[in-house]
Amino acid sequence: MAEKSVEPHVFVILGATGDLTRRKLMPALFHLRTLGELDKQNTLIVGAAMPEMSEDAFRLWVYEGLRNSGAPDSSDLRRWCDDHLHYLTVHGGSLEDYEALAALLTRLEGAGRKPANRIFYLALPPTTVPSTVERLDQAGLLKSDGWVRVVFEKPFGHDFSSAQALNALLHRHLGESQIYRIDHYLGKETVQNLLAFRFANPIFETLWNRDMVESVQITVAEDLGVEHRGSYYQEAGALRDMVQNHLTQLMTVVAMEVPVSFDAAAIQVEKLKVLQSIDPIDPQDVAFGQYTAWNVAGRVIPGYRQEQGVSPDSTTETFVAIKMDIHNWRWRGVPFYLRTGKRLPRKLTQVAVTFRPAPFQVFRTLEPESLDSNRLLITLQPNEGFALCFSVKTPARPLSFTSQSLQFDYGRAFGGELPDAYETLLRDVMIGDQTLFVSADFTETAWRLYDPLLAGKHDVHFYTAGSWGPKEADAVVERNGHRWQLGW
Ligand code: BG6
Repeated sequence: MAEKSVEPHVFVILGATGDLTRRKLMPALFHLRTLGELDKQNTLIVGAAMPEMSEDAFRLWVYEGLRNSGAPDSSDLRRWCDDHLHYLTVHGGSLEDYEALAALLTRLEGAGRKPANRIFYLALPPTTVPSTVERLDQAGLLKSDGWVRVVFEKPFGHDFSSAQALNALLHRHLGESQIYRIDHYLGKETVQNLLAFRFANPIFETLWNRDMVESVQITVAEDLGVEHRGSYYQEAGALRDMVQNHLTQLMTVVAMEVPVSFDAAAIQVEKLKVLQSIDPIDPQDVAFGQYTAWNVAGRVIPGYRQEQGVSPDSTTETFVAIKMDIHNWRWRGVPFYLRTGKRLPRKLTQVAVTFRPAPFQVFRTLEPESLDSNRLLITLQPNEGFALCFSVKTPARPLSFTSQSLQFDYGRAFGGELPDAYETLLRDVMIGDQTLFVSADFTETAWRLYDPLLAGKHDVHFYTAGSWGPKEADAVVERNGHRWQLGW
């Protein structure tokens, strides 16, 4: 089947002067254009935001941002900015502002740009999203003789009822097929490869179940702290910021059944079924942590409570470890451990599948623990690749074993950099492919799963920045006779 190509359209960024536009959206759009994905003449970008800015100033701002992100200084780059970018100041977000946007689009979509296809990318604070969608509709911007798609950034609600209310509001103005909820983890090349790995390699499919798998661990570790986002993070915490979305998405991709086809509806159905099969989480199976300062070689890394915008007695969690049980035929009895934290020793996103030990140990002279379990490590970032770990006999006597691995490294196999997640996702919006986006049902069901943890009071245990989290997190795995996998 031939790949769909991008049809001419106008790409409108609401909240266009923010960090996301400059760091992610514009580099992705420019790269898509460099790859020849965007129609040269007929794909235009309109930035709309509150700052008073001339169109020229906006073009220069984007140009400089692209230069800083590594785009070569060329007359082509400058020309692209001048020819394809437009800017409109939206003062208070009143109806008149949106009518002015409608007038601008009508002008740009004039002669030669029919049908009028439109993408609205809401790079806005969550509180302004509902009124923005209402205004877009009131100003007639969501009706067109072409297609209209609207992209939403996370967070998508802050609990089950807010997500449900937001979905209800969106559905009053848009069909679900027009709504693209972004979870940038789904755009990562390696997450897509995880799907490919599972469904293109039947040898693993036969191992992928409770008979062969003992436990699954999903780790998203970050070495950075909350950076300049202290005030946002204080309200969110790691459970809302990372677990409800990114880790839950990864978990469903690992655990889902084989879909009937590789398209959005079929994949979303299977992922949702996993979520619906998860037992309520026992608070005993959860550990929350918060990083404290670390003094290393005279350099002090501040604790979370010392970060800008964070209250000095904040109890917000910067680390979460959770055990989950999926009650279906494939996974009953296999614990899924999810773990994420800021200021851990290094950046690592990894899925570790530990296989069951041999039912009978023939090497009687060995200590039972001297034989490691077979493991499949799927590293999503950095150093993307797979490692299948197994035991081999070390040369010489006495008989002993060591763990070795068969490895596959994307960088070595294909060279170069993997496409950026935003580039993949923006292109998918442009061709109308929702496979890598989050459905209304998924987001609500995920919130429903975590709501009891968010509502309940929980202890937050301190861990030193640069460590692997509080010791209470070890208890989450050790209670079941497991230990955390620390990379490869
Ligand atoms: C974002 C979170 O969604 O993902 C951040 O809000 C986090 O707190 C980031 O740092 C991690 O993304 P990545 O792609 O760097 O793993």
